[in-house]
Amino acid sequence: MAKICFIGLAGNSVFLYADHFHREGETVSAHSFYNEPGGKGYNQAVAAARLGGACSFIGAFGKDDGAGLCVKYLQNEGIKPLPVYKDIPSAYACILTDSKGENRVTVYGGASALLNGEDIKSLEREIVSSDMLVLQNEVSIDANIAAVEIAEKNGIPVLINPAPAVGMETELLKRAYVITPNLHEAETLFGSDWEKGMKNAGIKRAVVTLGSKGAAVYEDGDITTIPPINTKVVDTTGAGDCFTAALAVMLCDGETLKNAAVFANKAASIAVSRPYAVAAMPKRKEI
Ligand code: RIB
Repeated sequence: MAKICFIGLAGNSVFLYADHFHREGETVSAHSFYNEPGGKGYNQAVAAARLGGACSFIGAFGKDDGAGLCVKYLQNEGIKPLPVYKDIPSAYACILTDSKGENRVTVYGGASALLNGEDIKSLEREIVSSDMLVLQNEVSIDANIAAVEIAEKNGIPVLINPAPAVGMETELLKRAYVITPNLHEAETLFGSDWEKGMKNAGIKRAVVTLGSKGAAVYEDGDITTIPPINTKVVDTTGAGDCFTAALAVMLCDGETLKNAAVFANKAASIAVSRPYAVAAMPKRKEI
């Protein structure tokens, strides 16, 4: 079983479902309320574990009940939690979903945003003993740089999901084995002609998720399109996380990037057909 180490933000998320998003100054009534732990790297760790990975999760938490719930959920999923504690509250996300399944997410980074390079160095052994390291952009750049340096030194491949794209350094992305931006993130980082931008930036490989249009695999300077799967969309929250996790598991299993992307596309199409994020992550036998 491939060992995958995830580093990321973790905290609780409140999901409110409403018919439509706010217009300026409007108060909207939600018709459903749900709470679950989350964060991009956190969701990815859960998805990868359900798909057959032996996963660990490094993240920073406040000394609060939210931290306890997040850690317990990981343990129940068979994931090894490696929490670092800070003196401010744990992260928290507010997720609004409309009747089309689209979302608007607001994240308070809290303790997760304080995860730093020294924290990562203190957990170096965990990265070194993994088959792959998976990062996003919800912890400090200092933490991500420290993690990439440890991985590089020890020949561990790094998958970076540059989400959110703001503040992500392309210098770091070109050190990754593969990156998994969505279209918006790819355009933010590399311009509207993102394929050319990636080439110029020296990106080795990428899988760009295109929402209802499937995905594009960028490898050896070429693009291959993975067609979308027709699904009734209930909630797109965490779909990109599911995709990244499935890709990581398949790559660790020795699959080609294209085959891994086909599998990840199927996994994400199941995730969007269900409500919420971690709760929606599929098990391997479902794909
Ligand atoms: O990708 C979805 C995730 O992004 C949510 O779980 C939320 O926590 C945000 O970090």
